Amino acid sequence: MGCQMLWHLLVLTIMTTASGRKRSILEGCDPGDLKGLTSFRGGIHWDTSGRLAKWVGHSCCEWEGVSCNNETGRVTEIRLPGFISTDDFVFQSQMEGWLSPSITLLTSLEVLDLGGLVGLSGRIPPIIGHLQNLRKLYLYGNKLRGSVPESIGKLLKLEELHLHENKLSGFLPSSLGGLKNLNALLLHSNRFTGSIPDSFTNLTNLMHLDLHCNSLSGHIPRNIGELHLLKEIDLSENFLSGRIPDSVNNLTSISVMYLDTNHLEGEIPFPSNFGQMASLGFLRLQNNHLSGRIPPNFRYLVSLQRVSLANNKLEGSIPPGLGNLEALTELYLSGNKLSGQIPMSMGLLSHLILLSISHNLIHGPLPDEMSALKNLQTLDLSFNLLNLTSIPTWLAEMPSLSRMYLAGCGIKGQIPDFLRSTPSPIQELDLSVNRLTGVIPTWIGRLTQLYSLNLSRNYLISNIPDSVAEFQELGVLDLHSNKITGSLDQVFKIGNSFPDGSLTYIDLSDNSCTSGIEQIGVGTQQRIKYLNLSHNLLEGQLPTSVGELKAMQSLDLSYNKLGFSLVNAIANLSLLETLKLQRNHFTGKIPVEFLNLKNLKDLDLSDNLLVGEIPAGEPLSGFPQSCFSGNKGLCGKPLSPCKS
Ligand SMILES: *[C@@H]1O[C@H](CO)[C@@H](O)[C@H](O)[C@H]1NC(C)=O
Ligand SMILES: *[C@@H]1O[C@H](CO)[C@@H](O)[C@H](O)[C@H]1NC(C)=O
Ligand SMILES: *[C@@H]1O[C@H](CO)[C@@H](O)[C@H](O)[C@H]1NC(C)=O
Ligand SMILES: *[C@@H]1O[C@H](CO)[C@@H](O)[C@H](O)[C@H]1NC(C)=O
Ligand SMILES: *[C@@H]1O[C@H](CO)[C@@H](O)[C@H](O)[C@H]1NC(C)=O
Ligand SMILES: *[C@@H]1O[C@H](CO)[C@@H](O)[C@H](O)[C@H]1NC(C)=O
Ligand SMILES: *[C@@H]1O[C@H](CO)[C@@H](O)[C@H](O)[C@H]1NC(C)=O
Repeated sequence: MGCQMLWHLLVLTIMTTASGRKRSILEGCDPGDLKGLTSFRGGIHWDTSGRLAKWVGHSCCEWEGVSCNNETGRVTEIRLPGFISTDDFVFQSQMEGWLSPSITLLTSLEVLDLGGLVGLSGRIPPIIGHLQNLRKLYLYGNKLRGSVPESIGKLLKLEELHLHENKLSGFLPSSLGGLKNLNALLLHSNRFTGSIPDSFTNLTNLMHLDLHCNSLSGHIPRNIGELHLLKEIDLSENFLSGRIPDSVNNLTSISVMYLDTNHLEGEIPFPSNFGQMASLGFLRLQNNHLSGRIPPNFRYLVSLQRVSLANNKLEGSIPPGLGNLEALTELYLSGNKLSGQIPMSMGLLSHLILLSISHNLIHGPLPDEMSALKNLQTLDLSFNLLNLTSIPTWLAEMPSLSRMYLAGCGIKGQIPDFLRSTPSPIQELDLSVNRLTGVIPTWIGRLTQLYSLNLSRNYLISNIPDSVAEFQELGVLDLHSNKITGSLDQVFKIGNSFPDGSLTYIDLSDNSCTSGIEQIGVGTQQRIKYLNLSHNLLEGQLPTSVGELKAMQSLDLSYNKLGFSLVNAIANLSLLETLKLQRNHFTGKIPVEFLNLKNLKDLDLSDNLLVGEIPAGEPLSGFPQSCFSGNKGLCGKPLSPCKS
């Protein structure tokens, strides 16, 4: 408030001292500016911030969000961001309506900030190039459609262009390459197609380039390494992410073709020599189809901190020069075709916090030098050709390691005792798809910080130890496809002493558990979304307490020996999308309450002993006959009508 008062005083002083020569900004508004602003306001029919409602009269320089040059009286700034934050409050406002092309009448505009108004639709005006004084153009986080006009290349003073998170489409105009003063070009999360224009290599002041989540294709411009000031490049996820038209799902072969034609491909062309991109700190190229080797010249990218090259088609070995990148904290190389051994020099990456090399063709042995990675917290070596035989003891001695992913690493023998007391308590442990034998150790529940445990697809012959009830932080438990026997009741006690427990996922399918189903839902597992107990030897009756699992989305109890009637309480699981109860011995009728399962998308009640009429109506009648087949006496839609 105080500041604003002072500003008014200043303005009045200008008026009185420099009366004749300078236009008073309180008197009015340049007619073009006024017309542009009122047309803009006219395009908006709903403004939750209430700012536009205060745009009355002709003194536009006083309007909220509008600033003028104090000499010319022309409007230089419109700042109406959706996200409003002051000392007192923070809130996200919205404007419904369309962006009036008349905004281009404000020819002295230097800053246009209409970012994050969420409901703002329309197009970027084709004559946006008229706004030749524009330095900052923020139109991100709206619903703008159409293409980026070629005329944008006339905005030679533009420093920041933020158009991300809209529905913009078409090719990126090569005229963008003429914006010599641009330091931030953020076009991510749109629907742009075509290739990255070569002209981008002329953007010599560029520091931030973000084109991720579009449908761009073709090669990365060959000379992009000449953008010496770049600090951040994100070209990831250029594969029609999440935007495949629904209809394509029906044409499987075409969907593959679709995906195959929209991604960046070819080799990573930078840096070509020492000194190039020496400021680059963040590089994200994941989820494209980039090929060739990781350039050995990556060793020149001395500022690199976070790098993802995951899920491309990179091959060859990991260049030893990566060990030079002292600043590196996160390195994602998973999902490529990298081969050879992990170079010894990786042990030099003393700031490395995360290393993910899963799903490649890396051979063993692991270099002992890796034990020097004092800051490493997450290591994912899953699914390579490592054939580790056992978990290296030095791994368990690393001071910061708390998330270990060693799936499919050819590990044999028992779960080693040294995991019980690692220097940094284990939070995530994945030893799935190995050759582990023996029992699940009795101490497992004492890993009090364990969040995720995956021991699936091993040869564990074991009961579930009582200690699992002691887990405090467990969110994900996957023990499927082992030879686990006995009762499940301890599993249903996990987190019971911690009312805000985090357990959301349990997979114990494909084992030999026989009892414990009567404990399901007893206790406080209110957050479980996924429970799979299929392919066990479970007997008994589903208790009504199953209705307590309010968050459940997927319940699979198929291929067991469960009997008695289907309890109505299942119908209380209103979020349920998947319900698989086939191949059991359930008797009686399908409760009419099942019609309440409005979110059900996947149902299987086949091969039980159910009788009577299938409750008429959605969602039940919409499932195919096979979901109800093989029962003792079901009738009604979708099966044949009941004989009355
Ligand atoms: C006019 O605005 C400029 C830039 O905002 C400022 O530096 C200058 O002091 C102002 N002039 C007067 C007379 O207030
Ligand atoms: C870069 O700019 C120069 C000079 O303006 C121009 O001659 C050249 O064609 C531009 N390069 C690309 C790849 O567009
Ligand atoms: C897929 O095909 C089915 C039957 O051919 C049709 O009913 C459905 O509407 C199609 N789905 C989409 C998303 O096009
Ligand atoms: C894995 O390593 C062990 C010894 O370290 C060796 O006997 C075995 O043949 C290897 N297996 C494969 C598939 O390479
Ligand atoms: C556990 O590991 C298996 C095999 O690696 C994998 O398929 C499964 O998704 C993992 N479970 C969870 C919950 O991530
Ligand atoms: C449950 O597990 C079985 C066997 O592991 C698997 O085939 C099935 O797809 C799983 N069910 C769900 C709903 O994920
Ligand atoms: C299921 O919902 C009904 C009402 O919709 C309620 O009376 C009943 O107590 C609920 N049962 C459970 C187990 O939550």
